[in-house]
Amino acid sequence: MSSYHIKNLEEYYQIYRKSVRDPENFWSEIAEEHFLWRKKWDNVLNWDFSKPEVKWFEGAKLNITENCIDRHLLTKGDKVAILWEPNDPSEQAVKITYKELHERVSRFANVLRSQGIGKGDRVCIYLPMIPELAISVLACARIGAVHSVVFAGFSSSALATRINDASCKMVITSDGSFRGNKVIDLKGIVDEGLKNCDCVEKVLVVKRTEHDIHMEKGRDIWLQDLLEAASPECAPEIMDAEDPLFILYTSGSTGRPKGMLHTSGGYMVYSAYTFKNIFQYKDDDVYWCTADIGWITGHSYIVYGPLANGATTVMFEGVPSFPDFGRFWEIVEKHKVTQFYTAPTAIRALAKENLDYVTKYDLSSLKILGTVGEPINEEAWHWYNDNVGNNKCPIVDTWWQTETGGIMISPIPYATPTIPTFATLPLPGIQPALMDEHGKEIKGNLVSGRLCIKFPWPSMARTIWGDHDRYRDTYFSAFKNMYFTGDGALRDAVGYYRITGRVDDVVIVSGHNLGTAPIEDAINEHPAVAESAIVGFPHDVKGNALYGFVILKEVGESRDRSNLSKEINQQITEHIGPIAKLDKIQFVSGLPKTRSGKIMRRILRKIASGSDSDFGDISTLLNPEVVEEIKQGAQ
Ligand code: PRX
Repeated sequence: MSSYHIKNLEEYYQIYRKSVRDPENFWSEIAEEHFLWRKKWDNVLNWDFSKPEVKWFEGAKLNITENCIDRHLLTKGDKVAILWEPNDPSEQAVKITYKELHERVSRFANVLRSQGIGKGDRVCIYLPMIPELAISVLACARIGAVHSVVFAGFSSSALATRINDASCKMVITSDGSFRGNKVIDLKGIVDEGLKNCDCVEKVLVVKRTEHDIHMEKGRDIWLQDLLEAASPECAPEIMDAEDPLFILYTSGSTGRPKGMLHTSGGYMVYSAYTFKNIFQYKDDDVYWCTADIGWITGHSYIVYGPLANGATTVMFEGVPSFPDFGRFWEIVEKHKVTQFYTAPTAIRALAKENLDYVTKYDLSSLKILGTVGEPINEEAWHWYNDNVGNNKCPIVDTWWQTETGGIMISPIPYATPTIPTFATLPLPGIQPALMDEHGKEIKGNLVSGRLCIKFPWPSMARTIWGDHDRYRDTYFSAFKNMYFTGDGALRDAVGYYRITGRVDDVVIVSGHNLGTAPIEDAINEHPAVAESAIVGFPHDVKGNALYGFVILKEVGESRDRSNLSKEINQQITEHIGPIAKLDKIQFVSGLPKTRSGKIMRRILRKIASGSDSDFGDISTLLNPEVVEEIKQGAQ
């Protein structure tokens, strides 16, 4: 029997040691016992971080949807697979059993095939959190098409960039979406974006809001009609373990988003294994992750990980504040949720509201709580622990990334004693290292450094779509033979890890990973703007917020500053989406630059955080006088 379900700390250490001593044996035992393969692998692992190249379970054949759906049909056919809670609480929740999911995914997959989509084709999914989002993801996987889900909060131009980057042949969207009391015209955003995408041949449209929309002749098709005509059986495409499963974009330090490519076999094994251990899922549990499927958390821990374990996974269409701030807790009570996984930013926002919103509901079904996406501060941790978990639910603070595909550092409930703000221990198979700025590993405890991973794990991204050089440069060039995460971390006296935040030009705002470069690119396109620099600063709900320093062109000098600020945020909304808007904008005459012309962001970060001293040596700057001016005008 392999070590699929960890029960206590001693067992964790045993399993961890085994996983590091012989990773190939460790993962092949798990893969063999807990998954359905059409053919076994010839080779467990082939890797070379200098290329970089990583291959898991080479030669194996499988289809991930057989693992997520078909193999549960005999024993769990009538069990609820997806429990969908709509935006408006007066609308009925929808329970989709494994049998029904099988039929709906099969029909959808047949529709895709009938519309000319086949193995290896890229399909962009731009949908709200409705069942069709999960179903279309699975339908793509069923036929071997590569899904690229774009979060439905992204703007038309961000959508177009992603569609073009992956040369998607098809877009799946809806007539609109409901979010709180807002209705969003998703199809209008798609129409706008597609003006700049020649690769898209067809657009499938799901009906959700029933609003009148434009349907482009020869391109746009209502999904419902096709589904009804399609067969409810669809033979899965048999994939190689290393065949692409999906692309998911994340921000980087240049304007272009990075399309992280994940493959079938290793991703399946790792997302399912981590789901099982971190959420300790038992057969009657109702598991709820509040993320959007547009992010990696939704891919791995709403869709693939839970379904591969035959779990009931909740999907929520709405927002935590609608119709009031008790919505999350109302849903927990209504569906008797047992595991609840959310972002620290949501906890901080809800902790600001009246406690009655929480205490009014019966949360006694909860067993395990989780957080993801950003560091959780001590206050929020305690609020969550005391008021939601009633001091009886272990909190798993899970650290990972779009690139890692699955959770890397996290407590195992009932095994790892938790400490607020610590993600604690690496999962089996994960070998973290802390590095100093000279490229040397810092060994021992009570140290801090740049967080790297020394050895491959099954669900790591294999490349950046269409740009392997960028993949190597971004993740494998800073430290020899190491995957560099971009995060800083410390290791305490007992070996627990605490993630201290990004050490690059990415800022985590409300749990969203935002590169500053694409935002600067967007602002710089404004006709009145000459140059800009964006940095993060601490914010009590969002974790970090964005501060923009903007130099105007001569034409902008006479303009009203508050109108300009609005236009700049509008510009960002159009290019990226409202999530990237700036909280503060300061107009400046110059930016502190080194003699080689590089902006000294360290100084800007200090000023944005409210510090007016301790800037280090500024005498080497090209324009040291500008620092005083910026300090004086700081908001
Ligand atoms: O900085 C880390 C932060 O989020 C980054 C990854 O963002 P993304 O790819 O969007 O994936 C988010 C969901 C997995 C990381 O590099 N981060 C994520 N989880 C934590 C975290 N920082 C601290 N603690 C965490 N638990």
